[in-house]
Amino acid sequence: MEKIVSASILSADFLNLGSEIKRAEDAGCRYTHFDVMDGVFVPNISYGLPVLKAVSKAARSVLDVHLMITDPIRYVERFAENGADIITFHLESGSDIAETVGKIHSLGKKAGLALKPKTPVSEAEKYIDMIDMLLIMTVEPGFGGQGFISDMTEKIAAAKKIIGSRGLDVPIEVDGGINGSTAELVKNAGADILVAGSYLFKAQDMEAAVRTLAE
Ligand code: DX5
Ligand code: ZN
Repeated sequence: MEKIVSASILSADFLNLGSEIKRAEDAGCRYTHFDVMDGVFVPNISYGLPVLKAVSKAARSVLDVHLMITDPIRYVERFAENGADIITFHLESGSDIAETVGKIHSLGKKAGLALKPKTPVSEAEKYIDMIDMLLIMTVEPGFGGQGFISDMTEKIAAAKKIIGSRGLDVPIEVDGGINGSTAELVKNAGADILVAGSYLFKAQDMEAAVRTLAE
């Protein structure tokens, strides 16, 4: 089955964000991935609410917001108001997980739970039946253009097994270092949604790059 490709605009040309989003959508990306970094949870700062609002006006795709921020429950309402469709926050972020998921759902949005590379999948197990997506980070969050951590393929497979054994249908998203070759590994392990930034936006032929990830 075709995988969903989520274009991480962290690697786009920010001065031409509207046309960059359209370029990714026209190339076949069904999701647009919006990385929010607060300089505390991760050692980098990206962009936030006013940029999301502008992006949501330009995007036709699903807005896949990845919050790399401390205590995200304080902000989920404002991300929902500013156009997020899926709000993904980190298990390590300090907010109560069930409460944050509940708040995202009460806002009519989908809730994703993200795991840093060193966080075992077993820690997410008790939340698996309340979330709409599990994001397995395949690099340390904070920067685009890093190399894929190969141990993460086993973690994806373990997550897939847990989800399957519970009879659930929670999609697994992967994020970080995804390119033509690592995409094969993550798809074989069970990934359903592939986030890619540098691989897509630096590609000579973005449509061909999206096809490589999706097929
Ligand atoms: C990293 C971000 C990613 C990043 C991926 O912390 O969460 O979404 O943009 O970039 P690439 O695909 O270049 O590794
Ligand atoms: Zn991300």
